[in-house]
Amino acid sequence: MAWGPLLPRLRGVGALALLLVLAVLLMAYTAHQQVRQPSRRGGDQVFDARHVAEHQTRHVLFFNRVPKCGSEMLVLLLQWLQARNGFRHMRLKNTVKRYLTFDQQAALVEEIGERVQESTEPRVSFDRHVYFTNFTSYGFKMPIYLNLVRDPVEKMASRFYYARATPRPGAATPPGYTSPAPPHYTSLEECLRYQDPECTFLTGHHYDLTIPYFCGHEDFCRELNNEAALSLAKRRVEAWYPVVGVLEKVNATLAVLQHHLPHYFAGVLDLYHNDLLAAPHYNRNQQRPPTSPEVEAALKTNLSLEYDFYNYLKQRLGKQFQELPVT
Ligand SMILES: *[C@@H]1O[C@H](CO)[C@@H](O)[C@H](O)[C@H]1NC(C)=O
Ligand SMILES: *[C@@H]1O[C@H](CO)[C@@H](O)[C@H](O)[C@H]1NC(C)=O
Ligand SMILES: *[C@@H]1O[C@H](CO)[C@@H](O)[C@H](O)[C@H]1NC(C)=O
Repeated sequence: MAWGPLLPRLRGVGALALLLVLAVLLMAYTAHQQVRQPSRRGGDQVFDARHVAEHQTRHVLFFNRVPKCGSEMLVLLLQWLQARNGFRHMRLKNTVKRYLTFDQQAALVEEIGERVQESTEPRVSFDRHVYFTNFTSYGFKMPIYLNLVRDPVEKMASRFYYARATPRPGAATPPGYTSPAPPHYTSLEECLRYQDPECTFLTGHHYDLTIPYFCGHEDFCRELNNEAALSLAKRRVEAWYPVVGVLEKVNATLAVLQHHLPHYFAGVLDLYHNDLLAAPHYNRNQQRPPTSPEVEAALKTNLSLEYDFYNYLKQRLGKQFQELPVT
């Protein structure tokens, strides 16, 4: 180890070490003073500065994106914003596995840690389809979490028609993974009428819907209409996600992102309206037929807690948007 020969030299510079300790103490004191500053709008700001200082790091943003919710658009915006706002966006390798074992979670956290260390930028953002992961369990500070959601029936319809429009949907498959059988039905109506498993949602069964992306890797998080999963997902949002965007509310989403996460999203509204809307759209499935009211009602009934979660996020975003300072 290189430390051995260093030690005597370190002892030789005791005065320097003392100075260093004093400097660290001064920095800690300054940080403490900053933390004690009440926030501008009376401390009830959703993005609590004290929380970040104690438990999260502003240097890492993790977009653990829910599939089929417009996340490619937000990733594109992050890629465009990185030079202007002085951060670096890195795409983590996606696989079909979004729920991970303890070891796989450790590998994910370590990979992020390594890439943060290697980066020369002051801030880094990442994206990957993966369930909420507790970085603290692996000895790291929590990143700032970010996500984007969408109306559950719209999301389901988008996934259904995407799988039919794209020859090889989804991402790389891990070894041993067998691809699902090719889709049987060409319309959502037909799929529901024949109660195909692809379009059937049964309480207590496991699905890769929105709640587990916020609840985590525990088994119950994937269980449909599990109250504990819903309430844990909401608690995670309050604690770790300063902003969760809603695809149906793009303007509000971007305005709130720009305000609450300016280090990453300053200028995003202009970029979206002036550049992205003018560019050819990513991953858009133009030919998707509208969903019939019957199908919508049937899905809504079975996806009841997914709707509860979606409505809660829509309300939260709406409140954040209303509370933005008038510019
Ligand atoms: C993460 O794990 C740590 C240590 O295991 C635990 O103390 C903490 O409550 C967990 N945080 C979350 C958000 O689950
Ligand atoms: C909804 O759930 C019921 C059982 O409660 C099931 O019979 C039905 O097929 C489900 N419908 C859909 C569209 O998932
Ligand atoms: C979003 O903002 C743009 C630009 O300010 C505006 O033209 C558009 O109508 C807004 N869209 C919605 C749905 O509010």
